[in-house]
Amino acid sequence: MDDKGLDKVIVDSPGRINIIGEHTDYNLGYVLPTAIDKRIRFTLERNNTDTQCEIRSKGYEKALVVDLKHIAPSNTQWENYILGVLYEIYKRSKELKGFQCTIESDLPVGAGVSSSAALECGLAFGLNELFDLGLTKHEIVVLSRDAEHNYLGTKCGIMDQFASVMSKKDHVILLDCKSMEYSYIPFSIAPYKLVLLNSNISHSLASSEYNTRRKECEEGVAILLKKYPYVASLSDASLEMIKASKTDMNPKVLDRCTYVVQENNRVLDAVEALNKGDLKTLGTLMYQTHEGLRTLYQVSCRELDFLVDFSKNRVEVLGARLMGGGFGGCTINLVHEDAADSFIQSVSEAYEKEFNIKLTSFEGHPSAGTTLL
Ligand code: GLA
Repeated sequence: MDDKGLDKVIVDSPGRINIIGEHTDYNLGYVLPTAIDKRIRFTLERNNTDTQCEIRSKGYEKALVVDLKHIAPSNTQWENYILGVLYEIYKRSKELKGFQCTIESDLPVGAGVSSSAALECGLAFGLNELFDLGLTKHEIVVLSRDAEHNYLGTKCGIMDQFASVMSKKDHVILLDCKSMEYSYIPFSIAPYKLVLLNSNISHSLASSEYNTRRKECEEGVAILLKKYPYVASLSDASLEMIKASKTDMNPKVLDRCTYVVQENNRVLDAVEALNKGDLKTLGTLMYQTHEGLRTLYQVSCRELDFLVDFSKNRVEVLGARLMGGGFGGCTINLVHEDAADSFIQSVSEAYEKEFNIKLTSFEGHPSAGTTLL
C-alpha cells in the first residue's frame, strides 16, 4: 500500500427520491430530496498499475477495461457513467491510478430513483477514498453532475448527485440550488408512508425532452431579463413578472415558466406543512405538482397519469405525483400504512388490466447518503 489512501474500499451509494420540487434544480430553485435504502455497492481495489482499470458489473459478462490515458465515450450507456466519472476525476487529479472494481445493485434502473447518480457518485466517492484524492463531497457531487453532462449529454441539475451523497437518515434535504445552501428537515410522517409505484415504463424521449425543457426555461429567462435585469434564473422570477411578460413569450415557454415558479413556491409550502405535521396539505401539494407536470411542463405520460388518477379515488392516499424527470419511472405516493398493501394490490391489478404491464412497488425510507463500509 502507498502511504496515502487504502488498498481496498467498499462503498454503498444510494438512489434518491424527491418529495417535491421537480425540474426546479436546473432553474436554480428549491428541491426536497433524500436518499433511499436501495443502493449500488462498489468494491474497489488498487491493482498497482498506473492507468489500467477494470470494472465488472454483476449480471454483465463483459468487463469494462479502461486506460486512464485514453478515456473515450462508449456505445454502451452504463459504461458512459463510469467513463465520464473517470474522465472528470483524471482531469482534476493524476493521483488516480489503476484499479479494479465490482459493482452490484438492488436499485431499479430507469425507475426515476436515479441509479445513474448513485453509479457516478459511488465510484467517485470510492476512488477518492482509495487514492486519497482530497476531493470534498461538494466536488464529488459537481464532478458527477459534469460527467452526466459531458458523457451522457443530459444537462441535468444537481439534485440527484447531491441527494445521493449528502442525505441523512430519517431526514429530507431542503436544497437551494442557487446558493447551494441546505438544511436537513426531519421526516416523520407516521401513520403514513411513502410508496413508490414503478410504472416499468421508460419512454425514450426522456433525455431529449429534458434538454428541450431546459432550453425553454432559458428562453423564458432571456425574455424576463429584458424587463427585470436581475433575473438570472427562474428562481429569481415571480408569477407577477411572468404575467407581465406574457405577451412576449410563446405559449409553451409561458407554461414552462409558470410551472417552475409555482413549483418552487410549492417546495417552501411543503416544508412548512411537513414542519407542522400537516400531511394533508403536503399531499395536496404533491397532486398540484403532478397536474403542473402533466399540463404545463408536459413531461408525464398515460401510465403515470393513470397511477395518479387511480390514487385520487382512494381515501388512504393523501397525495401522489410522478417523480424525477418524467416520461416513465415511478410515482411517489403518500399512503396510510394500514391500507398500503390493499392500495398496492388494487392499483397493480388495475394497471395491469389497462396496460398489460406489471407494476412493481417499494417503500421510500429516507436514508444516509454515500457510505464507506
Ligand atoms: C432528473 C435530473 C434532475 C432533476 C429531475 C427533475 O432526475 O437528473 O437533475 O432535474 O430530473 O426534477
